[in-house]
Formats: sequence, structure tokens, C-alpha cells
Amino acid sequence: MGKFFAKVYDPVMKPLEKRYINRWRERLLSNAKGKVLEIGAGTGINFPLYNKCEEVTAIEPNPHMVEKAKIRQAQAKVPVEIVQSHAEQLPFPENHFDSVVVTLVLCSVEDPVQVLQEIKRVLKPTGTLLVLEHIKMEQPVYAGLQDMLTPVWKHLADGCHLNRKTDILLKENGFEILSRKEYMSGFVVSVMAKNPVS
Ligand SMILES: C[S@@+](CC[C@H](N)C(=O)[O-])C[C@H]1O[C@@H](n2cnc3c(N)ncnc32)[C@H](O)[C@@H]1O
Repeated sequence: MGKFFAKVYDPVMKPLEKRYINRWRERLLSNAKGKVLEIGAGTGINFPLYNKCEEVTAIEPNPHMVEKAKIRQAQAKVPVEIVQSHAEQLPFPENHFDSVVVTLVLCSVEDPVQVLQEIKRVLKPTGTLLVLEHIKMEQPVYAGLQDMLTPVWKHLADGCHLNRKTDILLKENGFEILSRKEYMSGFVVSVMAKNPVS
């Protein structure tokens, strides 16, 4: 599944990226500063969009995604290092990064709460978390559809849950929301949050 997902991810996402997601990414990533950690970098689609930060460390567990990401690593305007790792146990010291970037990943990780705890640990007290995720919608009809589709969707899309309440999880785990923008009637949110330990 990991190999297949890595192969089809960019072609499948291309129309959506062109029409919507790329500009949401650009807007969010313009806030990435200093030493940046990107979680679940996938094919490295964000790499060419970093320009104001010093350097990016990107983690990604799927070796087939890592191979794709290496191509975009060469297109980046800032130094990018790729580390094969899971976000539930980040191989970095405490208070290390100025920004952590997570785009379309918290829907897929096995343990989102553990991942948020790890982000809190490695983010500097003054650091910011930048998130672009689809979430469970508020309208009951859409939310019900998301619940209904998730068991099948998870298998088709490498563990992706359509019905994760990721923005609520951020608050429950103490992140202070600095800005929040909704797209597609609240299906997608772009959030900038402050580390709760600051
Ligand atoms: C839908 S893709 C998104 C890729 C990229 N971030 C983007 O914005 O297009 C989800 C990515 O999260 C990665 N992922 C899944 N579980 C993970 C985990 N526990 N830790 C880190 N990354 C994970 C997957 O391998 C995949 O590359």
C-alpha cells in the first residue's frame, strides 16, 4: 500500500493542488520561521514553498515517499534534510524547532494525541505550529457522511480518517490558536497555534 500511495499521491492530488491547496499551503508556510520541522512530508510537496526560514528538517516514515521527496529536496530554496521516522517518537531534542509544519498528516497518524505531545516537546517555547488539515465538519449531514465513509476511505487512502476532529484536539492538548481559517465550508482548516509551554 505504501508504495502504491507514494506513486499515485501527486497525480491524484494535482487538480486539487492546482485549484485550491497550493495557495493554502503558500499562505500557511509563509509563517514558517527559523529552524522548521515538517511532519509527514510525503512527496515533499511543501519543500519548494519554504523561503523565509533558515532550514527544514522533514520526517516521513514511508520509504517510497522519501524517494519522491528527495526529488523535491533538490528544488528547495532552503536546506532540507529528510529523516525517515514516525511522528509519535520524534528523534530530536526538546525545545529545538521554531516552527513545526503539519499538512494533511494528523488525519493519518496512528496516535494524534501522542504526536501533538511530541510536537510540544520539540517546539521551542516561543515556537509556532502550522497546520493544514481536513476535519470533521459541523453540519450533521456532512459529519454523518464522513463517519460513514471513513472505514472504507482509511483502506483506500493509507490510514486517512475523514472524521478526525483535529482542530478540537489542538485545543484539548493546550495549543493556543493564534489564527484559524476555514476552507470548503469548514472541511479544511488552516491553523497557526502557539506552543502551550510558552
Ligand atoms: C496524505 S499524506 C500528506 C503528505 C504531505 N504532508 C502533504 O501535505 O501532501 C500523509 C503523509 O503522512 C505520513 N504519515 C502517516 N503516518 C505518519 C506518522 N505516524 N508519522 C509521520 N508521518 C506519517 C504518510 O506516510 C504520508 O506521507
